[in-house]
Amino acid sequence: MKNFQGKVAAITGAASGMGRTLALELARRGCHLSLSDVNEKGLAETALLAAKAGLPHGVKVTTAKLNVADREAMVAWADQTAREHGQVNLIFNNAGVALGAFVETVKPEDFEWIMGINFWGVVWGTQAFLPHLKRAGEGHVVNTSSLFGLLASPTQGTYNSSKFAVRGFTEALRQELDMANCGVSATCVHPGGIRTNIARAAKMDESMNHATGGQAEAARSRFDKMLNVTTAESAALQILRAVERKQRRVLVGPDAKLMDFFVRLLGSWYQPGSVWLSRKLMKG
Ligand SMILES: NC(=O)c1ccc[n+]([C@@H]2O[C@H](COP(=O)([O-])OP(=O)(O)OC[C@H]3O[C@@H](n4cnc5c(N)ncnc54)[C@H](O)[C@@H]3O)[C@@H](O)[C@H]2O)c1
Repeated sequence: MKNFQGKVAAITGAASGMGRTLALELARRGCHLSLSDVNEKGLAETALLAAKAGLPHGVKVTTAKLNVADREAMVAWADQTAREHGQVNLIFNNAGVALGAFVETVKPEDFEWIMGINFWGVVWGTQAFLPHLKRAGEGHVVNTSSLFGLLASPTQGTYNSSKFAVRGFTEALRQELDMANCGVSATCVHPGGIRTNIARAAKMDESMNHATGGQAEAARSRFDKMLNVTTAESAALQILRAVERKQRRVLVGPDAKLMDFFVRLLGSWYQPGSVWLSRKLMKG
């Protein structure tokens, strides 16, 4: 997609972090917005800021409370977006959550919770919006995986599962869209550490408290600090540039680029390094 002026973009998880900065940057470029999140207060704030940013272009902003794990609600929101805006060109399947837990003992309900949002949310969003993007004739699916969709880490097994799945799903989707030559494309986004609310909002299994010697909150704060590499504003710019260039994947931030390089170089031998780092993060 060469530019976003006059297009319509739908964004999930728009109340905070990269969802918000994507909304604001798109509004500045004259793109109309359909925004959703479970957090209605944050969503209303984003909508207000986006309407202000898009004022010179007369940008239209609509909002909907949406849990991305709810397939029927996703379909209804996609239809509503098309009705309210006349067309849809972009879907950013961005909403996501984090969970600290060990693979051996993670609660089934917690595993289902994170997969429901991080993986199934992306699947439902893609399937619900694709017919609308095709109808518009020019469209793009932007699915957010992670650096943790390229490498795995202790206590992140559930998050890794969801983000590796998003990567496989999106790479297959991109190739199918290339085969169909239908005017719609797809990009898989792999952010490294981005300064957002994700670590602070993360769920922690009780086993994390034991593994950190009762210091789970200190470990969370160390992890949060580790994500202070790239601002959410810069991440949005990098993601939008990748969409303009029709990139298959985008590595967001220097840490994502560096770690991707090491994983390619070392193959599975990156894992001992990851074990060392995780021990440090857990014990301080
Ligand atoms: N911040 C990072 O370092 C980082 C790194 C790699 C990938 N990511 C991914 O980037 C995406 C955006 O996250 P962020 O860092 O901006 O975090 P964030 O916590 O600031 O924003 C995530 C948003 O998703 C929303 N959300 C949570 N559950 C939802 C649900 N069931 N339905 C709809 N919305 C829901 C939250 O309310 C929040 O507004 C996520 O998919 C995340 O996994 C983030």
